[in-house]
Amino acid sequence: MTDIDATFIEETVKASFPDTTVAILGAGKMGGLLLQAFLKNHLFAPEHLHATVQHEERSIALSAQYGVDVSTDNVAAAKASDLILLGVKPIQVKDVVQQIRPALRPKKLLISFAASVKTRAIEEAAGMDIAVIRAMPNTPSMLGAGIAALCRGRFVTDEQMALASRVFESIGRTVFVDEKHMDAVTGLSASGPAFIYIILESLAEAGVKVGLPRDIATLLAAQTTYGAARMVLETGYHPALLKDAVTTPAGCTIDGILELEEGGLRVTLIKAVMRAAERAKELAEG
Ligand SMILES: NC(=O)c1ccc[n+]([C@@H]2O[C@H](COP(=O)([O-])OP(=O)(O)OC[C@H]3O[C@@H](n4cnc5c(N)ncnc54)[C@H](OP(=O)(O)O)[C@@H]3O)[C@@H](O)[C@H]2O)c1
Repeated sequence: MTDIDATFIEETVKASFPDTTVAILGAGKMGGLLLQAFLKNHLFAPEHLHATVQHEERSIALSAQYGVDVSTDNVAAAKASDLILLGVKPIQVKDVVQQIRPALRPKKLLISFAASVKTRAIEEAAGMDIAVIRAMPNTPSMLGAGIAALCRGRFVTDEQMALASRVFESIGRTVFVDEKHMDAVTGLSASGPAFIYIILESLAEAGVKVGLPRDIATLLAAQTTYGAARMVLETGYHPALLKDAVTTPAGCTIDGILELEEGGLRVTLIKAVMRAAERAKELAEG
């Protein structure tokens, strides 16, 4: 990751939401990515950004690194903010929301990007009719190439949904789904990068097996994966149609496809997403 340090923040650039105060409770891997993206894209004014972590020494290091307020005080950060992002582990979300209750007001917006935890559970932990949006981002967000699915709780306005969308557009694309699909999204696009890395690593190993230097094999595998994904996104063609365009009758690709089908790659990937989505349902309970 290319870290952004305090010197990166240009004081002169006006923030997109200059009056919105934001707290990220749990600035770990995903929360830290969001914090960096907010600063890099000038979404919020640095003096209006607050973040928390569990360990004091980490808060000091992050504060020095980003030049924003990072502490271990969830209540103070939530009190200072209109928009509160929840980035702790799923099992911790309820406790953290209960802890910040004194800082919550019905006008504030809570966005949880924790897996598994339902909007209704967060509303109940908050103990009031408060707007709760769930988001499920993924790690390519680090390069602005992520995708986040968003769903709304019962008290969310269209304006709040639009703000959440802008927040996650700063790290990639966004889609809106019903809450019943959030665990499926977790299994597909949040866990998905890990599945793709295994495919990519295997393609690179294959390149080595057929005699290519490892660095060239990895580059060929990665750029091929990237190019194929772009073809799907930018042409809008069905992946099967794009596959057919590569597959010359009696050529070499069809022989490779035969091996993939015999090895059960499709079924294996379908089962991997199903298992991850099933596990995602359980995470809120630990
Ligand atoms: N990683 C992913 O690919 C991904 C994708 C989508 C969604 N998510 C969701 O993002 C959330 C965090 O995952 P992660 O991978 O970013 O984990 P992580 O790196 O472990 O981040 C968790 C953060 O929470 C902090 N924390 C722990 N207890 C706290 C408390 N009581 N108050 C304030 N902060 C506290 C930790 O502080 P310290 O740094 O001091 O330990 C850490 O910074 C999870 O709910 C996960 O479902 C993750």
